[in-house]
Amino acid sequence: MIRLGVNIDHVATLREARDGNEPDPVWAAAQAELGGADGITIHLREDRRHIQDRDLRILKETVTVKLNLEIACEAEVCEIALSTRPDQVCLVPEKRQEITTEGGLDVAGALASVTSLCERFAAAGIDVSLFIDPDEEQIVAAAKSGAQSVELHTGGYATASGADQAELDRLIQASKLVREAGLILHAGHGLNYQNVGPVAAIDEMQELNIGHSIIARSVFIGLEKAVRQMKELISTGLPPTRRF
Ligand code: PXP
Repeated sequence: MIRLGVNIDHVATLREARDGNEPDPVWAAAQAELGGADGITIHLREDRRHIQDRDLRILKETVTVKLNLEIACEAEVCEIALSTRPDQVCLVPEKRQEITTEGGLDVAGALASVTSLCERFAAAGIDVSLFIDPDEEQIVAAAKSGAQSVELHTGGYATASGADQAELDRLIQASKLVREAGLILHAGHGLNYQNVGPVAAIDEMQELNIGHSIIARSVFIGLEKAVRQMKELISTGLPPTRRF
């Protein structure tokens, strides 16, 4: 069964809009777990625009499912990850001006440094996932790096027009390569209740990380229910219908 990691950054974004203490992502994580989340994902950005160090510390104590920490390959956040010890780090590229993570990590172009980071995280007992575009060159490099998993960037698929099968085919081909390379396959970015079906139906898929669409729906129906609906969609492997 495909695992669902729920990204709760957007709850922290709302809190930071008023520079206050609500809504609390710690509450969000508990609600997501009640809805059946298999993991909680947070991104500790260098500019701390949403998730704060305090959130990571408390979530490390309170989350009972997998805690996945997204970070850039930068010393400060890597040291924090090494001392906090989430279950997994997902290495992502980060640009100050972007609204959200834009492209995949260039593992092929930075193989030596990514490999040495993977070694340090492995020594600390932390799994590493690499957020990459569905490109063969990046998959081959990821397999050499020592990472356990890759998360294929589904942004291209999610923003393509509905009739465009090419982006889905690209994900399907890349998924095969990932599994042939002996890596665990995750995917995420831009997935929602309408477009998740074909990605969840990819044979090799093991985990999806989804944030914006779940948090958006939670405003109207509550987070527990929004997670439950997504979990049901991905675990039944239904095609994208208007069911929810
Ligand atoms: N995976 C990664 C690596 C991300 O950076 C993000 C966005 O923070 C997500 C998944 C979730 O994307 P979305 O919020 O569009 O579902």
